Amino acid sequence: MRHLIDILDLTTEEIDGLILTAQDIMKYPEKYAEKCRGKQLATLFYEPSTRTRLSFESAMLSLGGSTLGFSEAASSSASKGESVADTVRVVSCYADIIAMRHLKEGAPLVASLYSTIPVINAGDGGHNHPTQTLTDLLTIKQEKGTLSGLTIGCCGDLKFGRTVHSLVGAMSRYDNVKFILISPDELKIPESVRSEVLDKKGISYVETNSLEAAMPELDILYMTRVQRERFFNEADYLRLKDSYILTPDKLKTAKKDMAILHPLPRVNEISTAVDSDPRACYFRQVRYGKFIRMALIMKLLEVK
Ligand code: CP
Repeated sequence: MRHLIDILDLTTEEIDGLILTAQDIMKYPEKYAEKCRGKQLATLFYEPSTRTRLSFESAMLSLGGSTLGFSEAASSSASKGESVADTVRVVSCYADIIAMRHLKEGAPLVASLYSTIPVINAGDGGHNHPTQTLTDLLTIKQEKGTLSGLTIGCCGDLKFGRTVHSLVGAMSRYDNVKFILISPDELKIPESVRSEVLDKKGISYVETNSLEAAMPELDILYMTRVQRERFFNEADYLRLKDSYILTPDKLKTAKKDMAILHPLPRVNEISTAVDSDPRACYFRQVRYGKFIRMALIMKLLEVK
């Protein structure tokens, strides 16, 4: 039985295979409409979500399966003090696969130790978000045609932004990838990601405060929201929240084929005036998220 807790639980070949399956699903959705008939997906979301939970549910329904679950800890027995370990033991009796989001880093890993069915990490605190990364990789493949030879600018809250941590891990496996890490000093990428991924693998990267200086070099601009819910005090959040706001004016120096990604939700960091720019991929990215999750559910359930 396989779980997906960290994007690096998957080999590069497996990730490439999931991308190929997702592309096939997009082309021939009818081929997949009965693949998970009789299977149930449990969505255990202890933290708010729109895209991840609904795309998992939509993915399972489009595979002919069904879903159950909760969308906040308050409506589950976690509110009475039930542990994650006990909850997954119970849910293992009702469902075939679990997608779990939790505010505590490592909670899905704990769940995987007690579950008798596959567990997917749907985001754990400021740590990781592997299925967002699968979504991002499919988006990059669709928009740029390759995952190699790209200069990727990650901009915003690189400290608490779990999607960036997983993306850096995954993209570091592809050839000739370079990162430009754009953030205020207080929100730089964690030392663990820098030393354990970037330095260890000899990946080329620079850290800067200036989006404007980085812009002309970028093939991908990955914007992120400043993660209010992870801050210890409101004053720091208010001071940092508008550090970067992407506008049409700032895009004047960007490459004509640069792809703008954002895991969403967006607050202020991309002006709505950018939405009509053909380089803005973030709503197409949402759509890709459903198809890659369909591919992942099939893989973990060992559906051929
Ligand atoms: N990208 C993402 O994880 O969005 P949600 O928080 O809405 O699931």
